[in-house]
Amino acid sequence: MSWANPLRDPRDLRLPRIAGPSALVIFGVTGDLSRRKLMPAVYDLANRGLLPPGFSLVGFGRRPWSDEDFAATFREAAKKHSRTEFRDDVWDRLAEGIRFVQGEFHDDDAFDRLSQTLTALDRTRGTGGNTAFYLSVPPDAFPTVCEQLERSGLADQRDGWRRVVIEKPFGHDLDSAKKLNAVLSGVFPEQSVFRIDHYLGKETVQNILALRFANQLFEPTWNSHYVDSVQITMAEDIGLGGRAGYYDGIGAARDVIQNHLLQLMALIAMEEPTSFHPAELQAEKIKVLSAASPVEPLDETSARGQYGPGWQGSEKVVGLLQEEGFSHTSTTETFAAITVEIASRRWAGVPFYLRTGKRLGRRVTEIALMFKRAPHLPFDDTMTGELGQNALVIRVQPDEGVTLRFGSKVPGSSMEVRDVNMDFSYGEAFTVSSPEAYERLILDVLLGEPSLFPVNAEVELSWKILDPVLQRWEAGGKPEEYESGTWGPDSADAMLARTGRTWRRP
Ligand code: BG6
Repeated sequence: MSWANPLRDPRDLRLPRIAGPSALVIFGVTGDLSRRKLMPAVYDLANRGLLPPGFSLVGFGRRPWSDEDFAATFREAAKKHSRTEFRDDVWDRLAEGIRFVQGEFHDDDAFDRLSQTLTALDRTRGTGGNTAFYLSVPPDAFPTVCEQLERSGLADQRDGWRRVVIEKPFGHDLDSAKKLNAVLSGVFPEQSVFRIDHYLGKETVQNILALRFANQLFEPTWNSHYVDSVQITMAEDIGLGGRAGYYDGIGAARDVIQNHLLQLMALIAMEEPTSFHPAELQAEKIKVLSAASPVEPLDETSARGQYGPGWQGSEKVVGLLQEEGFSHTSTTETFAAITVEIASRRWAGVPFYLRTGKRLGRRVTEIALMFKRAPHLPFDDTMTGELGQNALVIRVQPDEGVTLRFGSKVPGSSMEVRDVNMDFSYGEAFTVSSPEAYERLILDVLLGEPSLFPVNAEVELSWKILDPVLQRWEAGGKPEEYESGTWGPDSADAMLARTGRTWRRP
């Protein structure tokens, strides 16, 4: 096996996984994602010594930049956003391999220039003809870029590997995802396509596998006999100022539920894979996604909202419709919640509640397994009035860790039982800081290690789950307004109240 799978082989954790000779081309290099995440991650990898000596990075964009202009932008991004300390010697070595190619996606000459640039880099820096193309561009540009890569011979793998990395959204529904995949698979074989879901690159998300499959304690209760419901929350306090171009018309469900939250659900609900070989892991996730569907009636089991003006902490903030770039009549949802059921022996009857939103009370991503009540409580009602459901909460971010909530006697002469928390915190248990998700994933692309990337079947199944809800919402007019800084629209609370449940206040 040529790749080193971090989930499969513990020895790889001790041996640094260093990428072989290679180059990375970023399309959409002037965008926000590139500046905030991709360039800093590349710098961090260089700083950790995980890139090969001749590593080269080529930016492709419309701006009339020289190599030096691009390098200056990269340097600034690395200084501002990288996780590790900025060091001039690391930067100087990295900067030797930085190039910029100016052009439009439909411009044949620009792609020919890109090809010449890569050939020259291979000759002078020894990139081995190995190139990853990172498409940090709007989805309607994917087909053009792929066709150009093919036309200019850049997808040809005879003299080195060629991989394509694509950022979500992979289409806007099942149909468009299929069309997109048809274009991609016409140019690159499936094993050369890396679909980024950066949640899978997070340490806490990978820990779901350790928590579930390295311990005896949890698995016996990990099923419908003990679990009442699962709540997966990804809440953000930020608004969408400056992101209208990407977000308007996309909305919270396509932006986050279709990918990050359904992937989290799959990891929580899947059976133990026979090994951590990528194909085995993907097969288990695919089984869960195939068995999952939104619970009917959709009007009662889902909710969507759009943030209005309000307060975020001590800051007065505007509503979505007043944000720059958004149409005043936009019906884009900034809050989405759905109920999913999984038709399997393990999960029958257990609702999975998935919710996400912008401008909510605070930034937090967590997965909470809410347990059933004990079948019998040998106490007076007054003694357990303050006792909630037992819960196992995986805190994905911030304050990464795991909390177990259970009832305990309040000290004193009477028997009063109240909820307490038992807590594991990464920050306290481990002293090393975790790599950023993009650091991990970019390195995996260069290593050709596919475990942490969803395959096409997962993407399509996720759209299949979401499409009926999206269609229902489209027919339903405007989303309900909620005040910024709160926990979403009233309909989200009503959706759970109908089943006698409430959302956790994370
Ligand atoms: C992205 C979404 O995938 O994830 C953004 O497009 C969101 O809307 C971001 O803000 C959140 O990522 P993280 O890692 O900060 O939770």
